[in-house]
Amino acid sequence: MQTINHLHSLREAVEALRNNGSIALVPTMGALHEGHMTLVREAAKRAPHVVVSIFVNPAQFGPNEDFDAYPRQLADDARMLEDEGVSLLWAPSAQQVYPAGFASSIHVAGVSEGLCGAARPGHFDGVATVVAKLFNQVQPDFALFGEKDWQQLAVIRRMARDLDFTRPHPDAIVGVPTVREADGLALSSRNRYLSPDQRRQAAALPARMRETVARIEAGADVRRTLENLKAGLVADGFDAVDYAELADAASLEPLARLERNPARLLVAARIGGTRLIDNLPAGG
Ligand code: PAJ
Repeated sequence: MQTINHLHSLREAVEALRNNGSIALVPTMGALHEGHMTLVREAAKRAPHVVVSIFVNPAQFGPNEDFDAYPRQLADDARMLEDEGVSLLWAPSAQQVYPAGFASSIHVAGVSEGLCGAARPGHFDGVATVVAKLFNQVQPDFALFGEKDWQQLAVIRRMARDLDFTRPHPDAIVGVPTVREADGLALSSRNRYLSPDQRRQAAALPARMRETVARIEAGADVRRTLENLKAGLVADGFDAVDYAELADAASLEPLARLERNPARLLVAARIGGTRLIDNLPAGG
């Protein structure tokens, strides 16, 4: 596996790879876990060359968020990727990604504005901008993202369609189902912030979400069921629920009842200083 930190070397290296086969890109912020590694394995099924990026993107963190505390373990991450047969690790510095004078930003209206977008102003502009840059830098045939970050996936798909990306083509943006712990908690680099007690309580999030989907699918009133979900999470030890919404799976517009299009239950809740997000299909 080559590890590359400079854009000029990246361009040469991806060109060499592309000359003998297609490329699948897995963008990450590192602190790799089994969720990320599942994306890498899915990427390897689609293309002979897998490129993984590791970049803790300052533009997607708010001023009071965990940019400084975010785990950084590049050497361990590189070993895991090497063992998985990854061709190239792209690990640029902030200077490479945002050189002096950098002034551009991508805003994807609508789909990026509710849910996490409302709770984290500017977050998805930071995500869309860095992902557009990664797409241009690597020009992959496929790009893989986790359904764990459902809104992020929807924002990136919208951006790729709106801006006529062809590398990757919007249809080659692949969503991979969420990888979970045995008790249902979605794997996340932020789970390591949880104390043992908080970690135990955190399993209430997927459990109550599954229960909520089952009730809504059985015809229960959506608004009342979502209120019960929020109250239940607080009773189970969560400090606050940022949002709990039923939404159209593609546009993320809130739904007051299940309709014909695929729907998604999306929740963000805080336990101590840690914010956890999760989502499940509903009525599908
Ligand atoms: P990061 O949080 O490192 O996640 C990288 C990718 O792994 C994302 O596509 C995310 O959805 C996926 N992922 C994380 N946990 C997962 C799980 N439990 N199951 C399946 N997939 C999972 O998301 C980002 O980084 C950044 O916003 C990024 C897209 C790299 C832009 O900076």
